[in-house]
Amino acid sequence: MKEINRYIRLIEHDNDSQLAPEVRALLASAIDATQLSYAPYSDFHVGAAIRLEDGTVLLGCNQENAAFPSGLCAERVAFFAAGVQHKGKRIDALAITIRSASKADAQPAAPCGGCLQVMSDVEKRQGSPIRIYLQGNSAPVIEAESVSSFLPFGFSLVGK
Ligand code: THU
Repeated sequence: MKEINRYIRLIEHDNDSQLAPEVRALLASAIDATQLSYAPYSDFHVGAAIRLEDGTVLLGCNQENAAFPSGLCAERVAFFAAGVQHKGKRIDALAITIRSASKADAQPAAPCGGCLQVMSDVEKRQGSPIRIYLQGNSAPVIEAESVSSFLPFGFSLVGK
């Protein structure tokens, strides 16, 4: 018998002032993306911005639907757009932000399990970590070094 332990490390920044300019820019893009969100049912507007290896920034936002399960989260909108528009390019970083009129103090929200599985698959395939930054309606910013910080035992068919 052996015990298997995996430890995760998150960094909480009091605000974004100490972050590198490209990270601040990515968070600003994610905030912009919340304006594009279609979320009349939840009033929970999620914006995602991903930075590719060549510096390209792609946006995603949640897209709700009157048939509720047909909608999609911001993160998957961005990741699937990268898969079709920039196939084969590495994803280096992801910023996720939230805007909600009814939740003025919305805290940083971790990606849902479905999005984590998609992101984990991409991370395993590309063989390099995707750094994640989360921000609520305002400070603080939570930083994770990898998707595996949130999904340490992600399912995989490719054996990595
Ligand atoms: N949502 C996201 O966009 N990303 C997540 O990781 C969790 C939830 C969206 C889905 C839905 O439109 C709204 O947030 C409320 O659940």
